[in-house]
Amino acid sequence: MARRTALDLLRMKADNRKIAMVTAYDYTMARLVDAAGVDMVLVGDSVGMVVQGLPDTLSVTLDDMAYHSRCVARGLQQAHLTVDMPFMSYQVSPEQALESAGRLVKEGHAQSVKLEGGVRSAPAVEMIVEAGIPVVGHIGLTPQSVHALGGWRVQGRGQEAAERLMRDALAIQEAGAFCVVLEMVPAELAAEVSAALGIPTIGIGAGPHCDGQVLVCNDLLGFDSGFKPRFVKRFAELEAPVVDAVRAYAEDVREGSFPAEEHSFHRRRGPRKVAKLY
Ligand code: KIV
Repeated sequence: MARRTALDLLRMKADNRKIAMVTAYDYTMARLVDAAGVDMVLVGDSVGMVVQGLPDTLSVTLDDMAYHSRCVARGLQQAHLTVDMPFMSYQVSPEQALESAGRLVKEGHAQSVKLEGGVRSAPAVEMIVEAGIPVVGHIGLTPQSVHALGGWRVQGRGQEAAERLMRDALAIQEAGAFCVVLEMVPAELAAEVSAALGIPTIGIGAGPHCDGQVLVCNDLLGFDSGFKPRFVKRFAELEAPVVDAVRAYAEDVREGSFPAEEHSFHRRRGPRKVAKLY
């Protein structure tokens, strides 16, 4: 089966079909989410928090993203692969942005790249798109600006902030992005932005009226029972079963019941003790 393209995803908005997007960071998870039939897989720079155990996304490098993208690409058969451009891999200049995007395509096998920011990132988006690399925008709460935003808060609540967000969305579309993520934005504003744009909006904490939704795979699978922001719906509770399974394994090892006969190999015949050869 062919992988979904940017054009396929644009068509989904035109056809009024919702886009399901999820993050993945390795081959195994990529294979599973692809088999589940999601439309887009994002190698998010959330890898910093989910995989590397960091407090935010700021330390993630372009090498990290290219590595995880390569792993994920090997697991996908039908879903579109988009990859985050990490902090300071595109903010310096449009030329720097193009070079970084090129690395994610060449080394990470990305089909498109995602970068944060609206009006301020439009020149970078334009240059990457001009070079033939599809771009996904990301506005609203942009985690790479967490210090400037004063924390992880809903964006676009007041009139002025809402107008700024609409300007950002239009600038990203005008620059040539084929889709835009809206993170932590009031549902009413996300609905207005989605109606104003010809490209699909993908929401996370942005209500039900976006053209698609994205969640971090570890969140929707419930790998961390202590992490439950309002916008996350857990579709499974996998933390306890994983801990229970590994605990059962450790107990079996300690009491000698694993490995059992069915997990063991034997010599063909004539068992001469190897110890005697020494
Ligand atoms: O890094 C990420 O996982 C993201 C999504 C939450 C949109 O940017």
